[in-house]
Amino acid sequence: MRASPREGSGGSAAPVSRREETERAIRMVTSELPGPKAKEKIERFNRNVSNVRYHILNGLFQETTIGSLITDPDGNRFVDMLSGVGVNAIGGAHPKVVAAVNAQMQRGAHFNMAVAPFEVYGEFLTRLTSTMPEGLRTGGGILGNSGAEAVEAAMKLARSHTDRPIIIALDPCFHGRTAAALAATTGAKGRKHLGGALTGVVHASYPYAYRAPEGVNVTDWAIGTVENVLRQIAPKENVAALIMETIAGEPGVIIPPKDYLPRLQKLLKENGILHIADEVQVGIGKTGRPWAVDHFGVTPDIITFAKAAGGGLPLGGIVARKEISDAWPSGHHASTFGGNAVACAAGIATLDVMQQDGLVDRAARTGEAFLKRLREIDSELIGEVRGAGMLFGLELVTDQRRKTPAVQQATEIKEAALRQGVALSTTGPYGNVVRLSPALNIPQQYLDEAAEVLERAFKQVKA
Ligand SMILES: Cc1ncc(COP(=O)(O)O)c(C=O)c1O
Repeated sequence: MRASPREGSGGSAAPVSRREETERAIRMVTSELPGPKAKEKIERFNRNVSNVRYHILNGLFQETTIGSLITDPDGNRFVDMLSGVGVNAIGGAHPKVVAAVNAQMQRGAHFNMAVAPFEVYGEFLTRLTSTMPEGLRTGGGILGNSGAEAVEAAMKLARSHTDRPIIIALDPCFHGRTAAALAATTGAKGRKHLGGALTGVVHASYPYAYRAPEGVNVTDWAIGTVENVLRQIAPKENVAALIMETIAGEPGVIIPPKDYLPRLQKLLKENGILHIADEVQVGIGKTGRPWAVDHFGVTPDIITFAKAAGGGLPLGGIVARKEISDAWPSGHHASTFGGNAVACAAGIATLDVMQQDGLVDRAARTGEAFLKRLREIDSELIGEVRGAGMLFGLELVTDQRRKTPAVQQATEIKEAALRQGVALSTTGPYGNVVRLSPALNIPQQYLDEAAEVLERAFKQVKA
């Protein structure tokens, strides 16, 4: 199958040369997936990669990821509506990131922060905190290599600052796969066999309006579950912090009601409990505001970030309010590779590009229009369409009243899209949410292509 951006636009376009046509072509899938070369490479890949591996997109072998286009070894091209699950926020291999990486490599890749200070580490945090809500701009941060490492640091800091052991998390949620982060993360599959190893976290309910009990006020209900934890399970004297994805990405792009976070913060303050905003997936412009908390007018005590931070290189970390970060005893936390100089240089370049190209505002504008388009898709499978900035979720159900998760159909939509050259994912506790998380600067033409493919996929997949 072959497609160009002009496909379906009528016959009025002037004839174009083959070269022009190739250059203009965005999606192009010419073979069965995986094609012969990809198949060989996948077999080779599997030889020494643990069976624990899983792939959102079966049949794809990623050869290049440049801008918002993924190519495979058979010459197939896919519009990237996933951006490495939010990492390639300014597209893959952005020339300014490549230049910054090369320049930093000339000066040295690794300067251990535990040995002595170095420029790009501090500079990155200065630049990043300048985008944060007022109360965090004067705050202090520490860098690591991943989202889970950031969550670990946030939980550790909260515990040490309050000298209280318990963290409250909200189900459903995803905070990472290392011990403390996994104790916070819900989803039975990832917790199997770990039993007593996952300690110190108690769960209340995420304000998930679509799946809240019928007829309740979602904010009242969800806040009530936190109050219940404090009353029945963990007295406030034991609780260090509540960790919450400000907008929940892996659980299916769940957006809390506007009044939830202000009310939650009030409750936490009254009980001396810190608010950790996990913005690993939704921070740094993803939702059309610099930080997702900006949608709700709250400033957390500690914020986590990763994914988009390093422009494709591993970089994550936390920033805490000044009074909290200043009180963190020297030497209580560090990371050998955390804040790697090359990753920091890439991170600074990423922030530069976002600022110079106005990408956060673009994400808000373009995202709103794209969300509208998604809401116009006519399918009895669609239970709810949610979105903020460049993050979208379509929750699929086989029965609108019972909200029975349409797991198989969501998978079929994902597979049909891939076969037509669009890479997207499914997520959520049931796996019935089609998630799109394109780069903030994805060209409009690519978005149009993706919308067309999605519309077609919904026609092909039956309830
Ligand atoms: C909200 C959130 N927190 C933490 C993590 C863990 O990040 P990592 O996979 O980099 O450890 C993720 C990853 O998807 C995430 O979405």
